[in-house]
Amino acid sequence: MRLNIILLGPPGCGKGTQAKMLTEKYHIPQISTGDILREAVKNKTPLGLEAKTYMDSGKLVPDDVVIGIIQDRLKQPDCEKGFILDGFPRTVVQAEALDDTLKTMGKKIEHAISISVDEEELLRRLTGRRTCRSCGAMFHILFNPPKKEGICDKCSGELYQREDDKEETIRNRLNVYNQQTAPLIDYYQKKELLRTIEGVGKIEDIFRKIEEVLGENEAS
Ligand code: AP5
Repeated sequence: MRLNIILLGPPGCGKGTQAKMLTEKYHIPQISTGDILREAVKNKTPLGLEAKTYMDSGKLVPDDVVIGIIQDRLKQPDCEKGFILDGFPRTVVQAEALDDTLKTMGKKIEHAISISVDEEELLRRLTGRRTCRSCGAMFHILFNPPKKEGICDKCSGELYQREDDKEETIRNRLNVYNQQTAPLIDYYQKKELLRTIEGVGKIEDIFRKIEEVLGENEAS
């Protein structure tokens, strides 16, 4: 069974949270362009230096940069049984490049799952998000708090707030999503790959809905 999955949806809808759970269950990698770019920013690589200004203001990093990242990543052997794309594609140009890349590899996307959450809830989630510097685990100060403030439950690493999780930048990211990424809903609908799930409620219940989508599609 191959699971080539795209998780779509606005900033804060829970793509990263659900991708980590899918990775644990199906043993396929989470490929997050945001995480790859943040790592490059942290290490001050040429890629990181280029990406930082875009990310800090909530804009998208240029298509050719992220397409190159994904093309390299999909060639890694751990993607053989499947992968979860989290935060890519984000424009129609990226989606078309992904289709072309996968075609040359004899693969295709099997599931595009869109997670729907309203904007007020997204703002609440993102302003309260905290991430572990060491293992990347995610928490929320109200909805999913760590046992000890500022400390990761899983590895005792330090929790931090992302640079782009300030309210003004979040609003920019939401505008960018509506203008440049939301058209992908239509793109995958036309390919009959899209399933939309309601992303409000308990994290485990949303995961169950995703499992149902994957199960249904596997059977058909
Ligand atoms: P990226 O890192 O991809 O950020 P994003 O898409 O804005 O998504 P987030 O990571 O903010 O949210 P999420 O949906 O993963 O939600 P999460 O699970 O964390 O991109 C950052 C930047 O990098 C972009 O702005 C751009 O500059 C650049 N970039 C990245 N990819 C690019 C691309 N392809 N092209 C160009 N540029 C690119 O959850 C959020 C919070 O909510 C957490 O605290 C979590 O604990 C909580 N939560 C999750 N689920 C629930 C729930 N059910 N109930 C209550 N709380 C919940």
